[in-house]
Amino acid sequence: MAKKSRLDFERMAAEGEKIVYLTAYDYLTAKMAEKAGIDMILVGDSAGMVSLGYETTLPVTMEDMVRFCQAVRRGAPNTFIVGDMPYMSYQVSDEQAVINAGRLIQEGGADSVKLEGGGEAMASRIKAINEAGILVMGHIGLTPQSMAQQGGYKAQGRNSEAAVKVCQEAKRLEVAGAFSILVEAIPTQVGAIITNRANIPILGIGAGSKTHGQLLIYADMVGLYDNFTPKFVKKYANANEIITKAFSDYAKDVRENNFPVDEEHTYKMKEEEVENFLKKLEQ
Ligand code: KIV
Repeated sequence: MAKKSRLDFERMAAEGEKIVYLTAYDYLTAKMAEKAGIDMILVGDSAGMVSLGYETTLPVTMEDMVRFCQAVRRGAPNTFIVGDMPYMSYQVSDEQAVINAGRLIQEGGADSVKLEGGGEAMASRIKAINEAGILVMGHIGLTPQSMAQQGGYKAQGRNSEAAVKVCQEAKRLEVAGAFSILVEAIPTQVGAIITNRANIPILGIGAGSKTHGQLLIYADMVGLYDNFTPKFVKKYANANEIITKAFSDYAKDVRENNFPVDEEHTYKMKEEEVENFLKKLEQ
């Protein structure tokens, strides 16, 4: 299947065809996502928690993100990739944002970038990156890089005032030139209104079913990440249990000398070769 472009996502949104968006951070997962026909892959800074074991996304660096993007590109050469801009790679200035967005495209092989926040400063970053010819996705609602300001990983826009603020942020980012916006952890009604008022594709994670598309973190939806599971995650598998069982079955087999003993998993030498071999050793 050909790689989808911004135009495909706009058409899908206009025609009510849902956009399927999933995270991946490594070659194998990206390969499976492409095989499954996922429309868009987010190389999210959630990689910091899922793949690097950090408690938050804040320690993730540009070097980490470039490396994750490269691996995903190798696994999914025909899938549209969004590279997430890590904490402090764009907050300081428009110039810093353009340089680092460029790295995710040029070195990482991403098709677009994503950054968090809906205020004036982030609108300015989006405008600058867009003017440099790079597609930018906005990210509003729950924004994990501002966890301290938001008081933890909490749903946003749950009262009328907060809901208006999220709607205004969505418009601000659209006007600034975002090609799409991700809305995270907001009530279904707010997700629906943002989507109805938008002229660009709105993707949701924990924002109800009315957005133009859905995102999930792959490690959550396959039941791999077991530190905590957000309310909006539907588990489609219990990969953690399956893999842990495989590891303990392997450990048991090795300890009891049951692996590798069968012909299927061992190499054999013909009897006459064994005799020659032993003779040669004696010489
Ligand atoms: O990094 C990521 O995976 C994200 C999601 C939490 C939306 O930005």
